[in-house]
Amino acid sequence: MHQDSYHRPVMLDVVVDLFAEVPTGVIVDATYGGGGHARALADARQDLRIIGVDRDPDVPIDGVEVVRGSFGALDSILQSAGVPALVGALFDLGVSSHQLDTPGRGFSYRMAGPLDMRMDPEAPLSADVIVNQWDERDLARAIGRYGEERFSRRIAREIVAARPIEDTVHLAEVVRSAIPAAARRVGGHPARRTFQALRMMVNRELDELESGLDAALHLLEGGGRCVVISYHSLEDRIVKRRFARGAESCTCPPEVPVCRCDTVQELRLLTRKPLRPTEEEIADNPRARSARLRAVEKVAA
Ligand SMILES: C[S@@+](CC[C@H](N)C(=O)[O-])C[C@H]1O[C@@H](n2cnc3c(N)ncnc32)[C@H](O)[C@@H]1O
Repeated sequence: MHQDSYHRPVMLDVVVDLFAEVPTGVIVDATYGGGGHARALADARQDLRIIGVDRDPDVPIDGVEVVRGSFGALDSILQSAGVPALVGALFDLGVSSHQLDTPGRGFSYRMAGPLDMRMDPEAPLSADVIVNQWDERDLARAIGRYGEERFSRRIAREIVAARPIEDTVHLAEVVRSAIPAAARRVGGHPARRTFQALRMMVNRELDELESGLDAALHLLEGGGRCVVISYHSLEDRIVKRRFARGAESCTCPPEVPVCRCDTVQELRLLTRKPLRPTEEEIADNPRARSARLRAVEKVAA
């Protein structure tokens, strides 16, 4: 399959520009997907070694070195690839269009598929376990927290009452019926937030992001850059806070005459506010709509 029909890369020119002047070395594309970003980076800078990482064994491989693994374990992945340092790291979070549009993967609430949602088909936890086995309170808490869904308690109650839930469309219908009719008409498909919550839990997305970001920032050389594209507020908040923490310089109160905090500034923010796709890109690729891009540069030690 051609990579563009697998997934269309979001904010491609912005990403290529942000890496245009990093020193020669290795860039990791931690979310290889269809390889659109990785290939454009390889074309733009032939002096770079690009390594793609993805936990989905189904990604198409074409000309770029790709390692299968979860970026939460970026340290050991890069160590095995013989890479001690990076000049760039890219995270384009979430699922690819191919994953979303393949009913058998279980990500879609529009097409019937198994309750799966694993990006890595060998991972131990699938959506089926959460939907059909979790206790109602845990389910409600998780849907509220990861889906930012205000009707999480009603949804959890309906899910438990409807067990066994057979597939994604059945689940979407149960969620829809749990949401009051007036609220169903706003905010997109009524099952969107519940599906997001399940996907995030199945794939441990926030934990992966925290450890992947830490590893990437640690491995960056001075002048190296990290770019993250996120698609919902929980992810963006983690990125924003981690970048802000790295960009802190002296934290001593102003009345202290000599710095005693020993804070060494690790990062320089390249984006104070997240960058957004243009209206033109969104019109052309509606899946880009919620993208928010943040970038930092490692300060030379
Ligand atoms: C939005 S797509 C990336 C698309 C890619 N930038 C392109 O141009 O085609 C996200 C990809 O990241 C992968 N992914 C998400 N979380 C991951 C993780 N923690 N470790 C490794 N891969 C991950 C998914 O399997 C998916 O293929």
